[in-house]
Amino acid sequence: MIVLGVESSCDETGLALYDTEQGLLAHALHSQVEMHAEYGGVVPELASRDHIRRVLPLTENVLKTANKTLQDIDAIAYTQGPGLSGALLVGTSFAESLAFSLQIPTINVHHLEGHLLAPLLEANPPAFPFVALLVSGGHSQLMRVDGIGEYELLGDTLDDAAGEAFDKTAKLLGLGYPGGPALSKLAQSGKARFKLPRPLLNSGDLNFSFSGLKTAVLTLVNQHQPLDAATTADIAWEFQEAVTEILTLKCMTALRETGLDNLVVSGGVGANSKLREKLNAATKRKLCKVSYPRLEFCTDNGAMIAFAGAMRLKAMHGNGNGNKNYGFSVRPRWDLAELQKPAI
Ligand code: KG4
Ligand code: ZN
Repeated sequence: MIVLGVESSCDETGLALYDTEQGLLAHALHSQVEMHAEYGGVVPELASRDHIRRVLPLTENVLKTANKTLQDIDAIAYTQGPGLSGALLVGTSFAESLAFSLQIPTINVHHLEGHLLAPLLEANPPAFPFVALLVSGGHSQLMRVDGIGEYELLGDTLDDAAGEAFDKTAKLLGLGYPGGPALSKLAQSGKARFKLPRPLLNSGDLNFSFSGLKTAVLTLVNQHQPLDAATTADIAWEFQEAVTEILTLKCMTALRETGLDNLVVSGGVGANSKLREKLNAATKRKLCKVSYPRLEFCTDNGAMIAFAGAMRLKAMHGNGNGNKNYGFSVRPRWDLAELQKPAI
């Protein structure tokens, strides 16, 4: 079965073709980062308009790369939410109308389920059950995953998400948008000089809180005006150290408390090399396994949506399942806990 995946929930248009027999056939992405950079963040209306421009050429691109035609597609999976409503509407209406014209089923995918399952696209994928750390621009969650649609929330952020904290701190340091990768790069030239707090590190639960960290950075920035390059790098170093230390400790606690020995990391912050370094070392010490998506599939992409859709179709024992009512609706707010096991 060949599934076309469509991702358009925020500022990336992602298309992909996934074959349940042969794996990922092709994927293509257009990032709007440069377009939004001058505004310092995503401008929703510009995002929607750009998705409209990109979605068809990217579809042609993946079909050509995979040497397939529209008639080879068995189902279309698309991100129905959560995300920006206008942006989601582009992918949704495109997917539903194309599926209608081809008379094939659609599968509405939860964006976070896409992220969560992205590490399973790699060779030697982890087996269920596992603990998942989902760290993106909008989420910082720890979950117990027993199968497709079987997600138990173990811990969540009480305020800012990890990626959001990276982005806001980067802005305070004058690093522009999006801040996570820029801050992480700058931190490489920094050193241990400042000490930031580690909020909720020893809270005894699996929740996170990152907004206080950002405020502590603001205090440091104000104390060291005008900021020179070395000080900026040292603050970036310590900020990254604090966030990755907290994430690592909470992951290890989650593994211990669930009794599981498999950790899966996904979402944009999962691309952070310091986080990977710390998690690799900590899981190795405890004889646990840790899996990540390849770097390009940490951030938003169509492959994870095609894959999540294919997994759902497969769990429904395939052909003919999925939706064939071709309705248009998006779910800008959608709790992952609402997802259920695919009905057979
Ligand atoms: O998963 P994603 O593409 O979008 C959401 O669904 O939110 O994640 C984007 C987030 C941004 O906040 C970005 O700054 C952060 O991931 N990010 C990073 C790195 N690469 C992306 N944060 C820290 N280090 C990185 N290398
Ligand atoms: Zn995302």
